Amino acid sequence: MFGGRATVKFLMWSSSILSKSDILFPGHGGELFFSLNRASSFKSTSSCLARVSSRSISNDSVKKKKKNSNRKEKSFISVDSLVKRTRSNKELDEDIIEQHLSADSHVPVMLGEVLDVFSNRQLRSFVDCTVGAGGHSSAIIQAHPELQCYIGLDMDPVAHEMARTRINGLLNSGASHVSSDLRTHFHLKNFKFIRSVLSEVDEKLIDGGVDGILMDLGMSSMQVNNPERGFSVLGDGPLDMRMNPQESLTAEHILNSWPVTEIGRILREYGEESNWFSLQNKIDRSRNTGGLHSTRELVKLIQNSTPRSRGGRQGWIKTATRVFQALRIAVNDELKTLEDSVYNCFDCLSPGGRLAVISFHSLEDRIVKQTFLDIIGGRSGSDEGYGQSSEPVSGSHLQKKHTADAEEAWIKRVVQGNNARILTKRPITPSEKEEELNRRSRSAKLRVIEKV
Ligand SMILES: C[S@@+](CC[C@H](N)C(=O)[O-])C[C@H]1O[C@@H](n2cnc3c(N)ncnc32)[C@H](O)[C@@H]1O
Repeated sequence: MFGGRATVKFLMWSSSILSKSDILFPGHGGELFFSLNRASSFKSTSSCLARVSSRSISNDSVKKKKKNSNRKEKSFISVDSLVKRTRSNKELDEDIIEQHLSADSHVPVMLGEVLDVFSNRQLRSFVDCTVGAGGHSSAIIQAHPELQCYIGLDMDPVAHEMARTRINGLLNSGASHVSSDLRTHFHLKNFKFIRSVLSEVDEKLIDGGVDGILMDLGMSSMQVNNPERGFSVLGDGPLDMRMNPQESLTAEHILNSWPVTEIGRILREYGEESNWFSLQNKIDRSRNTGGLHSTRELVKLIQNSTPRSRGGRQGWIKTATRVFQALRIAVNDELKTLEDSVYNCFDCLSPGGRLAVISFHSLEDRIVKQTFLDIIGGRSGSDEGYGQSSEPVSGSHLQKKHTADAEEAWIKRVVQGNNARILTKRPITPSEKEEELNRRSRSAKLRVIEKV
């Protein structure tokens, strides 16, 4: 278990959420988490969902209940067994997590695994596309004394300022392992503009490329925990959901002004919500009585549209989570931005450079996977049979001398292309221990590509 301050912070983090209700709010990518105040008894997402589903079936008849329960449990189990992934077996490093928890208790997800991705490299330049609270960044800066150029991007001014203060504080503290030659650059920008940011920092970075790039998608705890941002299903606040408050499009505008068929489409496609048609009609009707203007009003509409037979007393939360996810994706144009940006980031790598992407829902993960495949010129669609699959190989000029021939244990299977290799044929997911301690990590998937 976590010791000392880290334990306290984790407990504070989870108990602050538990006190709001018996239910945890959506994770980074809109995942739904139930606590039932027995968090530690849930060993995996599937068992958690299976228990919740079996608890929540209506009382129509014992027979029906049993049948439904069995069917639901079976389907969760089969979904879990179908997930093609490599669960991390890395031991959770409590000291590192303790060091890199932010003041707002944003816990960097798969921190040890991300450090591993770059640990065998000479990182002279590094871009964190989603600097957030600076957790991953400060760990990478400390792990790479050879780092000369660090660039941190975020389109959220709160995150941008927090990360800047934190990382500059780290540099000014004279912490060992941080190069005094390190130049840091913070840009309040969408990561889709990575190329223009690099040329602004130093034209040479465009020609030579950067040695490492990280994208840790989704929302930070600071964003979710602030009801004024409109991301939380549980808090009450404006229907905002903008990560960049300079943008004009808000969830309120979408709900009250977009053609309802377009709202139906985003609920269907971005929320994967099966009840989209009924919700679309209710949202349409709400316009006759002045529209929707707060997250609580939207949640009420969802509660009234969710039959108790769909997941029972708390079934509305799953729907609300999907609706909020759909709106957030639309407000921030997340999917199109992600696809374009993965290509852009790859273009910005130096030969041997690595791009690591952590995604938090299946729509994002699918885009990362397909884009990686497209980059290496592989066939899209199937998980198997693309590119040339091989055991890990070494040889990049970026590899640190003393480990040049060493195998990197975290790399299980590589997909080799002409211009790049995918180092995660299957995405890496958090260790069981991390999932237990940080519920938001549960839907995380890490994929890595290396330019050759
Ligand atoms: C999960 S948090 C990152 C947390 C960070 N890795 C840490 O350890 O503290 C994701 C961050 O990405 C930012 N973000 C999301 N999409 C973005 C985009 N397209 N461009 C720039 N920043 C983005 C969000 O504002 C948020 O601060």
